Amino acid sequence: MEQFKGQPRLPKFAVPKRYDLNLKPDLTTCKFTGSVAVDIDIVEFTNFIVLNAAELTIDNRSVSFATKTSSKVFEPKKVDVMEDDEILVLEFAETLPIGVGVLNIGFEGVLNDKMKGFYRSTYEHKGEKKNMAVTQFEPADARRCFPCWDEPACKATFKITLLDVPSELVALSNMPVIEEGVNGKLKTVSYQESPIMSTYLVAVVIGLFDYVEDHTSDGINVRVYCQVGQANQGKFALNVAVKTLEFYREYFAVPYSLPKLDMIAIPDFAAGAMENYGLVTYRETALLFDDLHSAASNKQRVATVVAHELAHQWFGNLVTMEWWTHLWLNEGFATWVSYLATDNLFPEWKIWIQFLDESTEGLRLDGLEESHPIEVDVNHASEIDEIFDAISYRKGASVIRMLQSYLGAEVFQQSLASYIKKYACSNAKTEDLWTALEEGSYEPVNELMNSWTKQKGYPVISVKVKEQKLEFEQSQFLSSGSSGDGQWIVPITVCCGSYNVRKNFLLQTKTKEFMGFSIRNESGNASSNWIKMNVDQTGFYRVKYDEELAARLRYAIEKKLLTETDRFGILDDSFALCMARQQSLTSLLTLMGSYREEVNYTVLSNLISISYKVGRIAADANPELVDYIKQFFISLFQYSAEKLGWDPKQGESHLDAMLRGEILTALALLGHEETVNEASKRFHAFLEDRTTSLLPADLRRAAYVAVMQKVSQSDKSGYESLLRIYRETDLSQEKTRILGSLASGPDANIILEVLNFLLSSEVRNQDVVFGLNVSSEGRETAWKWLKDNWDYISKTWGGFLITRFISAIVSPFASFEKAMEVEEFFASRSKPSVARTLKQSIERVHINAKWVQTVQNEEHLAEAVKELAFRKY
Ligand code: BES
Ligand code: ZN
Repeated sequence: MEQFKGQPRLPKFAVPKRYDLNLKPDLTTCKFTGSVAVDIDIVEFTNFIVLNAAELTIDNRSVSFATKTSSKVFEPKKVDVMEDDEILVLEFAETLPIGVGVLNIGFEGVLNDKMKGFYRSTYEHKGEKKNMAVTQFEPADARRCFPCWDEPACKATFKITLLDVPSELVALSNMPVIEEGVNGKLKTVSYQESPIMSTYLVAVVIGLFDYVEDHTSDGINVRVYCQVGQANQGKFALNVAVKTLEFYREYFAVPYSLPKLDMIAIPDFAAGAMENYGLVTYRETALLFDDLHSAASNKQRVATVVAHELAHQWFGNLVTMEWWTHLWLNEGFATWVSYLATDNLFPEWKIWIQFLDESTEGLRLDGLEESHPIEVDVNHASEIDEIFDAISYRKGASVIRMLQSYLGAEVFQQSLASYIKKYACSNAKTEDLWTALEEGSYEPVNELMNSWTKQKGYPVISVKVKEQKLEFEQSQFLSSGSSGDGQWIVPITVCCGSYNVRKNFLLQTKTKEFMGFSIRNESGNASSNWIKMNVDQTGFYRVKYDEELAARLRYAIEKKLLTETDRFGILDDSFALCMARQQSLTSLLTLMGSYREEVNYTVLSNLISISYKVGRIAADANPELVDYIKQFFISLFQYSAEKLGWDPKQGESHLDAMLRGEILTALALLGHEETVNEASKRFHAFLEDRTTSLLPADLRRAAYVAVMQKVSQSDKSGYESLLRIYRETDLSQEKTRILGSLASGPDANIILEVLNFLLSSEVRNQDVVFGLNVSSEGRETAWKWLKDNWDYISKTWGGFLITRFISAIVSPFASFEKAMEVEEFFASRSKPSVARTLKQSIERVHINAKWVQTVQNEEHLAEAVKELAFRKY
């Protein structure tokens, strides 16, 4: 049996074709029993059948194998559960006959509280606490519910039956019910057999729910299930789902492949949502929308998450990645196409501009030496969780966008449709997608894209003016300031002085000279003749301009000559270069000054988040400058704050509603007196009357943050009022909004109280990470708290949630001593599932520490900051 240990993948002696699965969950004792009969095809002479199982008790006497042609039953001489490898090895005395047979296994398990496998979630009904049973199998946890070949390439059909379900409960699975037999208080529910699919997409949910329903123009029944009495909150998502299914049907040129689609909100849920075939599960915040208490940002979240999960019904469920190395095909693609679908439904949201938030997060993570290639080796199940990260999702989506804009939307869509058609009900690898696109476009897609998916990192393109020429040079960008040795095939786009004067080409070498533009214009006025590369920010790279070109761009920004996307890109690149110490803080701040009249939501919200980061570094580098820097930021944000005002304007845009909340939150965090006072006033009105129009949902986060700025040991009333709202609301979005603001204040003792509250039974495990948004004053407290509670935390949170604790608390540090302390603490406590995140977080601390040193030594910074702070506009 030794030969099966430590292998990344199952041996392929037997191929599963069909599972007949019975499950009998007991919601009172939180246990389940089950039996599975798997039709398998033995394809090699062997005495062994090896499949996955974990945390299950196998009933040895129930295990048998029989062929359909003879009456002979094979019983294993040995049944071995290898927990480390999560496999079940059955050894038979005789060699098994080649051909089809049925494997029977009986088993039992526990409905766990870890939000994976077959688990328990809780809810209240008529004042009583109740259990529901839910599955979450991606990436590799179907094996915690039933023995199976738990790999994406092992596709089979599933015929599922649930036994002894309390008759009053709703019991759902991937397929529609074909038969329901009620026997007194219990019922047996069986479902139609599914088309062939991967194990990680199998799902079951049992609990009390209400639903709303509708259908698509081609007759697919769509339902949204919510807590009893709250079905109204499902209407928005329902509408999005129906229209999105219709959109994808056109886009992929293949109809949705199942007879129904259910979407359901689960109160305890580790991820945001899960694309189970025909039964998509969601966190409540990602599915429910309340007209009075949900914000515009909540609405957008619901729409994009629904669009993302429904994209998987084609890209992921119908065509599945061959192995987890190609996870990004699923996630990167679904992320990209969710923007296409959302843009189609809500063009006024200008969601493609917001796509830049994806790219910038991808660039941020991929600027680390501890990043990984998009196509990454996976050797053990425990390594899979960690690759659900910004590389797979955001860099993945960004390189797809880059390719689409290089090939053209039409060719891209047609090639995709043929890819889907070719691999439907089957599996594909990254290169299969490239081949389809290559065949459709006659472009060297494989070669081009390999440079982006097989090596980590990305280039920074330096551009200089030399005589009448532009000089380009690519080198790998690293936030640490070192230069890596990667090289890419870069789709370059450049505009000169106007969006009509544009050149596109592939940069295949390290350097290139370019003469196509007249760089100085007739009047000799160089400042108007700007050069912008990476036009519209569709490329996954950064650009470093020489001083002269940078000055021209600042001028173009102030003169409002550039698009939102380009304004975003110039700012974002400049920030990254500053952090990598390739540009002074003075020059970044000067550039930020050009955005004073910025009105675009995405650009401003990036300006805000950059200001937080710069503020923190400045505080570490030179505390005396902090007040001036704050003053400067306040002056930057006031223009749009005044334009937007506090009260929503009749018929205003979705983006203005979101922007108002963000700007006021930023001003509150900067301690801007007027904002803090006005926010407190409105907050108190809201305490009296939760429906007051003085504090619409879009403003609440700002008000909560403002209130927390005033809370101290001696006056905790604001904190207590927030806890009261937290306890009274049953809307998950309201709860997370509060959690996200509790640790934002300056009092470290309060922060400790908040952190301890997070570990209390009042906060669901799924939500704790939202509370880790700690102010700089609470940084040390949070670290000490993490160390003190690490044993409990690492036992309670698994998967990717645990990585959030580390990145949220460790990455804000900015000294080498701290980096060492973190390393020492985790030396004996790291584990495979957090190893990469830990290294990335420590790298960030080093980057911050170097940045602080550089800023400390920057000449003339103080003068520049003061000048900016006191500048009159
Ligand atoms: N397939 C994922 C869910 C998932 C994530 C399973 C991590 C296992 C581990 C799902 O399609 C997804 O990507 N959900 C996102 C939301 C999406 C809109 C980005 C999530 O959970 O954050
Ligand atoms: Zn996804």
